[in-house]
Amino acid sequence: MCGVVAVLGKENASQLVIEGLKKLEYRGYDSAGITSVSQGLLQTIKSEGKLLNLIGKLDKSTKEKLYFDNSIALGHTRWATHGNVSFENAHPLTSENKIAVVHNGIIENFEILKKELISLGYNFRSMTDTEVLPHLFMKYIKMGNDLLEAGRLVLKDIKGAFAFVAMSVDFPNQLFVSRNSSPLAIGLGDNANFIGSDAHSIDHLTQKIIYLEDGDHALVKINKISIFDKNFKKVSRKIINIQAEIGLITKGGYKHFMEKEIFEQPVVLPQTTSSFIKNNSEITIDLDKLGFKNKNSLIICAAGTSYYAGIVGKYWIEQIADIPVIVDLASEYRYRKPSIFGQNSILVISQSGESLDTLMALRYAKELGLKTNAIVNVEGSTIDREVDYSLYSKVGPEIGVASTKSFTSQLVILFLIAVSLGKKFNSLTLTQMRKKCQLINMLPSAIAKMLEKENQIKLIAQNIKNSKSVIFLGRGLLYPLALEGALKLKEISYIHAEGFAAGEMKHGPIALIEDDVPVIMFLVSDGNEDKAISNLQEAYSRGAKIILIADKKCIDKATFAHFTVEIAEFENEFKSLLSPLLMSVPAQLLAYHVAKERGTDVDQPRNLAKSVTVE
Ligand code: AGP
Repeated sequence: MCGVVAVLGKENASQLVIEGLKKLEYRGYDSAGITSVSQGLLQTIKSEGKLLNLIGKLDKSTKEKLYFDNSIALGHTRWATHGNVSFENAHPLTSENKIAVVHNGIIENFEILKKELISLGYNFRSMTDTEVLPHLFMKYIKMGNDLLEAGRLVLKDIKGAFAFVAMSVDFPNQLFVSRNSSPLAIGLGDNANFIGSDAHSIDHLTQKIIYLEDGDHALVKINKISIFDKNFKKVSRKIINIQAEIGLITKGGYKHFMEKEIFEQPVVLPQTTSSFIKNNSEITIDLDKLGFKNKNSLIICAAGTSYYAGIVGKYWIEQIADIPVIVDLASEYRYRKPSIFGQNSILVISQSGESLDTLMALRYAKELGLKTNAIVNVEGSTIDREVDYSLYSKVGPEIGVASTKSFTSQLVILFLIAVSLGKKFNSLTLTQMRKKCQLINMLPSAIAKMLEKENQIKLIAQNIKNSKSVIFLGRGLLYPLALEGALKLKEISYIHAEGFAAGEMKHGPIALIEDDVPVIMFLVSDGNEDKAISNLQEAYSRGAKIILIADKKCIDKATFAHFTVEIAEFENEFKSLLSPLLMSVPAQLLAYHVAKERGTDVDQPRNLAKSVTVE
């Protein structure tokens, strides 16, 4: 999603902004731009595509001394919402070459504002919603307002979710910033200040960060930052000291971040478990804070992969703790007037902690009177800051757009919630609870064994790389994995893929089966495997190419499969209960290798963003 960086009061501000934009690249974008002020004039450079294109243009202009000695600059990576990917639609957007604005989010009432501005003679050069911002600033500055006053009038005009930064040649060395639902951080320097979509984008410049709260706006000068809340009352916001995340931009010898993130799971997942299990078997999750003083049902909301983690969580919590769980897509939740009967709390799941759909679901649940909890990976993110209680994934920054290690860490936490609830509400004895903790402690070595199957998965990837469509099937705990396997494959390889509950095939999707369509099933023998094998057989009989990734017992039964990958033998309870965690690994590896075979941009697939900050 769009990323914003601004630097005020440092020489070579443009170069420093570019460094910041590089750190936001992983979020996904399709054009970029930068504006600085030189000799009293705005200088803007923009380009479609990757930052390298922009850097090339910037280097040329530096040689031509256009950007020499600038000490103010703002930059942007754009993920197109309104208006296609083009030079004109890239940010910064300007008005009369005196005001420049970069913006993340959507100005929902832009059409009406645009009409008014056109009638006043403002000339629109882009198709974006954002362009109303510089023109509105221009309009109010022409009326005699300073940058702060003009910004406030703009805020009164606009509706939507946004974070933006504006600068004007008429007010040198000042930036107006504002946020509403989209994240924005201000960094404090010596005789310099910085703005970024997240703290990491400016941690090469400072470790002192202020997160603006929703509805805040601020006037940032070289030596002074004045912050105001949504009622325009002056406020002070906490300064947080962050640590520069040095490891973030290294791939550690791997070709892609995704590959690194898949392979580091045996090392990072113990960080998740050890922060919730003490003395090998005491789970430290605070169930009272989680809303379980008494036995209630639970609502889980999330998007994409985090939503699929939520479905696995539902299965575990219902199976282990006998507590009813509803899982909802965050983007649907607040628009469908949900019943909260029997519920006391909501649990949202979000790697980034910034998904706007999930944030909005959380806020809505708050309005309904529910306690709010989150599983998040990014500490200090908006969701983390807004919930009553956060459970941290602790797996370190995830850069590849495809969630891998964050998914498995979410599953680990959900499993521990289920076990903890099971003990509290007497579905599990102390011994049974301890046994389950032992199982989860065995996970890292089991995942390492699953990773050893990479070469066999590569062969399957080579075989299916030219398929038009791929079907994933699963039953029980592996049904959500079928959904996740399909999402992973489609998002990075661009092959159409769908996941189905295996038993549902005959109710419609089986019509999709034709000769050689790959049908992939992850399976473990858990007592119910025969049903799944029958479903697979039904696809085989209609010409599908059957790919089975399973334990020996299942493979021996499904003799008709065209490709099989036999996983290592694990203890029965471990393998059946933790099967979604085990099978995440081949699902991730398969998507990764198909994408690599097809030469797609694995870490930044087309059209996608790591932090989805629009609804
Ligand atoms: C996963 O591979 C996707 N990139 C995507 O579905 C993601 O899980 C979703 O956008 C939710 O993100 P979040 O966990 O950061 O909220």
